Amino acid sequence: MKADPTIKAIMPVHLYGHPCEMDAILDIARRHRLAVIEDAAHALPASYRGRMIGAPAGDDVTNLVAFSFYANKNLATGEGGMLTGPQHLIDQARKWSLHGMSRDAHQRYTEEGSWFYEVELPGFKYNMPDVQAAIGIHQLARLPQMQRRRREIVDQYDEGLAGMAGLERPVQRNDVESACHVYAIRLNLDRLTINRSRFIAELRQRNIGSSVHFIPIHIHPYYRDKYGFTPDQFPIAYGAYQRLVSLPLSPKFSDGDVADVIEAVGDILEQNKH
Ligand SMILES: Cc1ncc(COP(=O)(O)O)c(C=O)c1O
Repeated sequence: MKADPTIKAIMPVHLYGHPCEMDAILDIARRHRLAVIEDAAHALPASYRGRMIGAPAGDDVTNLVAFSFYANKNLATGEGGMLTGPQHLIDQARKWSLHGMSRDAHQRYTEEGSWFYEVELPGFKYNMPDVQAAIGIHQLARLPQMQRRRREIVDQYDEGLAGMAGLERPVQRNDVESACHVYAIRLNLDRLTINRSRFIAELRQRNIGSSVHFIPIHIHPYYRDKYGFTPDQFPIAYGAYQRLVSLPLSPKFSDGDVADVIEAVGDILEQNKH
């Protein structure tokens, strides 16, 4: 099939830290000469078939990978992030991110000296502040340890929630290592007398915070009104949304904290089953 020439890139999202099926995506990109721009906001550290998300995917495909260091992420600096990809694009992005300024090495050795720079593009002010980068460097050192703890918690959730008929646990494929950023269960609403909002309220009553990742774009007012979307125009996204609950997950949790969540979930499902 011939690709639509207006399509320039594929943008996979490694949702919850679980890598997408990258071989298939890269294969399509190579065949149709598309760039692959990965949303890896949740995916540090994660790997797909032994290759870290963010590591080069090969010379024959243009591949950029964006990570987030926002306050709730696995590595958090408050705001900021990281971009990986081919050197020439990273150099270009660096320029765009700071007023379009060029500080190429060769220019420092001209007669103008080290103070010299030129504005080559109408750039932005998207640079990462040094203070936040300093926080990030120390978080980076702790990342493997935090990741091990996330993994343990996810394993405890998987084991503790197994066999509960009122929910579906997240799946992890064998050939990937997930960053375990979010643990999202899906409620089996046909087995329950309550909806997702009530389930979350019941958790709250038991002093357990939870969240929903994510509200589908097409029901947000701006997109809904601009494009005239109705909820059932994207029935899979909308159906999944109504079932989703993200259980709390932090490397700071004790085993007891995780057990409390599992017990509360079991209790709510039991009290509200059909
Ligand atoms: C899947 C996903 N992509 C992108 C972003 C944006 O990251 P940032 O806030 O660093 O721009 C987020 C942030 O929460 C996210 O969850």
